[in-house]
Amino acid sequence: MTASSLSFPQQDAARRTSDADRARILAAPGFGEHFTDFMAHARWRRDGGWGDDEVVPFGPIRITPAAAVLHYAQEIFEGLKAFRHADGSVWTFRPEKNAERFAASARRLALPELTVEDFIASLKAVVAADEPWVPVVDETSEASLYLRPVMFASEEFLGVRAAHMADYYVIASPAGDYFPRGVQPLVVWVSESYARAGKGGTGQAKCGGNYASSLLGKYEAAEHGADEVLFLDSETHTAIDELSGMNVFAITKDGEIRTPALTGSILEGVTRSSILRLAEDRGLRPVETRLVMSEVLESLASGEIVEMFACGTAAVITPIGAFRFDGGEQVVGDGGSGEHTLALRRELTDIQYGRIEDRHGWLTRLV
Ligand code: COI
Repeated sequence: MTASSLSFPQQDAARRTSDADRARILAAPGFGEHFTDFMAHARWRRDGGWGDDEVVPFGPIRITPAAAVLHYAQEIFEGLKAFRHADGSVWTFRPEKNAERFAASARRLALPELTVEDFIASLKAVVAADEPWVPVVDETSEASLYLRPVMFASEEFLGVRAAHMADYYVIASPAGDYFPRGVQPLVVWVSESYARAGKGGTGQAKCGGNYASSLLGKYEAAEHGADEVLFLDSETHTAIDELSGMNVFAITKDGEIRTPALTGSILEGVTRSSILRLAEDRGLRPVETRLVMSEVLESLASGEIVEMFACGTAAVITPIGAFRFDGGEQVVGDGGSGEHTLALRRELTDIQYGRIEDRHGWLTRLV
């Protein structure tokens, strides 16, 4: 790897969270509710490129109401986790994949690219400053420090064109389970009213707009007593795309593990690609294909598909227990957590927490 050009020197914090307050937060972190003492920042200007790199106290930022992002949504983000191992060291999982996806998202949203090296340097800088915030775990707990890089157009200008100034931040948030009910089978609402992304659109970029467009679908799901919403493809409304922020998998009784192919409208999940690899190692046969919802429902009813799950950095691997749709409900397997699903989750998290060998070389040490 070449050297990073940004070094993110750390400023002193005027005030840090007390040990007692941090311990209270880490005892029940939830997801996305609490933030650490520091954040990384860098600014890009069209004339000078990236600079002003620094690690500064976490807190509100000043932004002009005329900033392009507030009007035209020129924004991208990423999600990764920092894991503490038993020897106290801190690691992250496949950060180069997130860095590459961040660069791809930047290209799609006409934002400046950050190199893989600078992206990883920013993660290391934040986690070094916020090291006490990385939860200590035992064999059964799964807390981590969620890292959220974000970049947005900050130029004060209302013309519709790619902005000439952008800001990049990495903030960090201690994380427990993503879903309030923990790793319990999800009830998933199949939306027929909305699509998440369209052909030629931004579906494969990790940009805030994709998540904004999922929110009404989430309301619809909640109205039907479901935990999550599943979007179908925008052209035919027949094939599975993804959930509001997670990829989807199905496992058949004869050992096939199926997931929607990367069509350009779904996110290329780092967890998704890792599962395809781990599944193959376990003797399952990965198939990236078009998953037609009506056929999936038939296969669930006939018992051909025995397990389904959602996956992502935040959700890890969370079983799907049932689908709800206009006119009915279809249970997945016996409605519980499938055997392969839980085994894959266990193996993935065991690698991340350093409990088993990192045989694919997926971990990068942060501290
Ligand atoms: C993640 O899994 O890291 C995501 O970005 C999904 C969601 C929390 C927005």
